[in-house]
Amino acid sequence: MSDKFEKIYIHPSQFPDQVYQDYLASFSAQQINHKFHYDSVKQSQKWLKIHETFSPARQDQSCIDAYAKCFQKTAEVLADDNLSLNLIGLGSGGGEKDKLLVSHLSQTNKALTYYPVDVSSSLSIISAQKVREAFPEVDVQPIVCDLLHSDDLILLIDEPEKQLKNIITFFGMIPNFAPDEILPILSNFLGKGDLLLFSANLAPGADYLQGIKKVFPQYDNELTKEWLITILLDAGVEREDGTIKFTIEDDGHKQHFNRIAAYFELAKDVSFKLEGELIEWKSGDKVRLFFSYRYTTAMIQALLSTYGINVLDYWEAANQEEGIYLCQKV
Ligand SMILES: C[S@@+](CC[C@H](N)C(=O)[O-])C[C@H]1O[C@@H](n2cnc3c(N)ncnc32)[C@H](O)[C@@H]1O
Repeated sequence: MSDKFEKIYIHPSQFPDQVYQDYLASFSAQQINHKFHYDSVKQSQKWLKIHETFSPARQDQSCIDAYAKCFQKTAEVLADDNLSLNLIGLGSGGGEKDKLLVSHLSQTNKALTYYPVDVSSSLSIISAQKVREAFPEVDVQPIVCDLLHSDDLILLIDEPEKQLKNIITFFGMIPNFAPDEILPILSNFLGKGDLLLFSANLAPGADYLQGIKKVFPQYDNELTKEWLITILLDAGVEREDGTIKFTIEDDGHKQHFNRIAAYFELAKDVSFKLEGELIEWKSGDKVRLFFSYRYTTAMIQALLSTYGINVLDYWEAANQEEGIYLCQKV
């Protein structure tokens, strides 16, 4: 087979039947599953632009340094054994952070396989190509999957007969899932001795809610609205049918985590057909398009510990808007 082909594994969680059911459920429950904001090439390009513009990991040198320190420490921790490495990038996005991590891991002179795992085929291929171009010696295998429906993924990747150490990255992912939904899945993914590198968007400063208000403009802006409305326009909803509004809300969790959420508030009754299904929305309905949790480092440590995950070390950007955590299952 020509090496011009990109070989990409598609997990059953992203087979068309499952994707279509999730798509319908998003519209009928008026709660858009985040995965549909990254689906098309158009959406992933819009998201990459937002990421480039607003992400501290792209714009703030102290945040970039915090990632580099975490990656250096990871390479030091790994120096002591002679196992080959599997780097599994869960929700790899554009692959920039994983690529920087690979540059540190390559100093350990260990055989390395990189699995960029993303719900978007476009983004998993972008991550794969970025790492392959910079590090041709690394084996790269992109995987498309929906983490919420892929409990068996680690079993499919793991090769127990080989002596391997898994390094799992979960960068910028925790904000877009309810913690009690995603953390059991992540915990299940981790074996003893594996390393988890995890990053979270934080609420800066001593006052949690004030901190969230400070970062609110990073969400409530035209670029983000244009990205979030794409799924509605593609389904046949018109711009004039409503307005996107952002808010800060308590998620109802016993620890009162807050998140920034975006809703499309209907200005009129709207009905449209998705294949055979009739979707009917009423004037005044609020269709949830998106949410992004903000935490503090203390909250992250407590939350991870309830799932048996220990934070070995952590680094924060100078403005405290992002934290990077080096973790291991207890
Ligand atoms: C906020 S981005 C983070 C990307 C990257 N890790 C970073 O830090 O720059 C979220 C990523 O998760 C992916 N994603 C969203 N929902 C997912 C799901 N259910 N399963 C797997 N990936 C998902 C998106 O396609 C996107 O690449």
